[in-house]
Amino acid sequence: MRLLVLCGHAELTVSEIIQILGQSQPRVSRHLKLLCEAGLIDRFQEGSWVYYRLANKSGTSLLARYLVDLVPDSDPVVARDLERLNAIKQARSDAASSYFKENASRWNEIRSLQVEEKEVETLLLKAIEGKKVIDFLDIGTGTGRMLELFGPLVDYAIGIDSSREMLAYARTAIEEAELRNCQVRLGDMYTLPFANASQDVVIIHQVLHYADRPKAVIAEARRVLRPGGTLIVADFAPHHVESLRADHAHRQMGFDSVQVWDWCADAGLEKVDFQSLKGNPLTVNIWIAASREAVRVLGAAE
Ligand SMILES: C[S@@+](CC[C@H](N)C(=O)[O-])C[C@H]1O[C@@H](n2cnc3c(N)ncnc32)[C@H](O)[C@@H]1O
Repeated sequence: MRLLVLCGHAELTVSEIIQILGQSQPRVSRHLKLLCEAGLIDRFQEGSWVYYRLANKSGTSLLARYLVDLVPDSDPVVARDLERLNAIKQARSDAASSYFKENASRWNEIRSLQVEEKEVETLLLKAIEGKKVIDFLDIGTGTGRMLELFGPLVDYAIGIDSSREMLAYARTAIEEAELRNCQVRLGDMYTLPFANASQDVVIIHQVLHYADRPKAVIAEARRVLRPGGTLIVADFAPHHVESLRADHAHRQMGFDSVQVWDWCADAGLEKVDFQSLKGNPLTVNIWIAASREAVRVLGAAE
């Protein structure tokens, strides 16, 4: 009866039922088998997992439900079982919220298509060599990798991302790296939650290809740069890897170097450097631009 009640409240695996009942696996499995044979419980497979639930859509399913309803939830043994069931449900939902870790591993697939990350990162760091950086902004921080890389070299670093799940991941990463000068914040790349001319360096690393309006993202990055500030954009060169659009939600199939320089020029940024790291099939381009003067704000003093 305890098995019937549990399976009437949730779909459960044998190991979850064992945790709840505190009984041995052979005993639980034997009873589940009998209940399945009696048509009171359904067994179904989901990948390598087997779930049990109260029978439905069968001749005996009404009997099964009737039996479960006869047992009051206030019964002390059942009440304790249901409490443990709730704990299992909570653990499941915690596991679900860690889905962002899977996203992170999907990016690793992409990493394998491009040049060595280390090569890219060495060039990125060169962009701030010998510079005093007080405020560093990482647009689309994702797992917080750019914060980990630049954090130790700047006074303050902040990463923004539109995904709460990614922010949770990045937060853990910077805490583990003990980067107390780094933080993350929810934000959108089209409307950055920062004042004009408030950042010394802005980086957009492998994020622009998610943008419908990449030109607008560059203009917004420029808005928050201080005079003399640096914009670093790293993204793929034009490519034909369709799976990035189909499976990874990329909106842009890479960027032509001239196109990005045009957007920079329109935003009031000057060329500083360009590097291209040839990969197969993905080449990574790095554009480094500078804002020579504060963005002009109509009707307000900078
Ligand atoms: C490839 S991932 C992270 C790349 C990260 N900069 C790095 O270096 O590892 C791209 C990130 O951009 C974020 N993103 C996508 N659209 C965004 C938007 N409109 N505003 C802010 N972040 C965005 C995604 O949530 C994701 O975390």
